[in-house]
Amino acid sequence: MNRQILLIALISISLQALSVTNKCECTELVQQADCTSDCTWSTTDSTCNAKTSDCTTLTSQSSCDLVNGCAWTDSTSKCDAFTACSNYSVTVADQCNQKDSTCVSGTSNSDGTIPCQTGSITCSTFTSSTDCNFKVPNSTSKCYYTNNQCSSIDVSKCSTITVQEICEFLPCKWTSSSNTCAAQTCSDLASTANCKTVSLDDFSGVNICTWSGQACTDAVDVTALSSTNCYSSTSGYYYWNGSACTECSGSSSYSYVLAFIGFIMMVMF
Ligand SMILES: *[C@@H]1O[C@H](CO)[C@@H](O)[C@H](O)[C@H]1NC(C)=O
Ligand SMILES: *[C@@H]1O[C@H](CO)[C@@H](O)[C@H](O)[C@H]1NC(C)=O
Ligand SMILES: *[C@@H]1O[C@H](CO)[C@@H](O)[C@H](O)[C@H]1NC(C)=O
Repeated sequence: MNRQILLIALISISLQALSVTNKCECTELVQQADCTSDCTWSTTDSTCNAKTSDCTTLTSQSSCDLVNGCAWTDSTSKCDAFTACSNYSVTVADQCNQKDSTCVSGTSNSDGTIPCQTGSITCSTFTSSTDCNFKVPNSTSKCYYTNNQCSSIDVSKCSTITVQEICEFLPCKWTSSSNTCAAQTCSDLASTANCKTVSLDDFSGVNICTWSGQACTDAVDVTALSSTNCYSSTSGYYYWNGSACTECSGSSSYSYVLAFIGFIMMVMF
């Protein structure tokens, strides 16, 4: 009997969760208040458009190479859109992989410069945490130094991550008693201010949360949201269309999340 009740409760919880995977495109947004961060509002025709990410505004090697899609050219001291690994040569070998995760360093020239070439990092070739940590073997892995070796950590899902530091850096939850990483649930968000959304395990979207008096729980719908909080309280997965809080039809956020994570991690560590 108890087991049946538990099962019914579990089924109804999973049915209730409001999971969405499409973040709004800037061009879908119809009110200026929602047109923020990567989007910019045009006052002339009252439309919202994507900000063009302009590599040329970045003026240092480190700030340029950390941005996905931008790469610094040493010979011209300029930041531009990444072209091909072989177009770059660097003075510090690590800088090749910073241009793009598909680049590695080649053999040094006699003048000390190091040409970059297409290839992928193999975590196990690094022998210290400084050389190893947060290098990018491919788009879903990070290197991490643990037990005296540099290992490749699968960061494609919260639940595949085996390192506390990486888990806690991402929108995931670490459980010390079992040493496991998992997606956060709405109930993990302890305050009204934080009770908005939680990432899905594979970062493909979010579950919408709502504050129910004393705790944060899965939202059933978004009817309580208004023109002022529809967009912000759903982390940009719903927008105010003039009369209702409406689901976005933009693209899946997966690559965006991981690219962002790569960027922040390299800055932080
Ligand atoms: C970089 O590489 C691309 C593709 O190989 C090539 O078309 C382009 O001319 C190169 N750019 C420079 C500045 O060397
Ligand atoms: C990344 O590398 C890991 C480990 O070598 C591999 O299992 C995984 O399939 C790779 N993922 C992609 C997207 O290439
Ligand atoms: C806004 O969304 C609601 C619900 O999805 C829909 O009924 C309504 O027609 C939409 N209004 C506009 C202006 O698009």
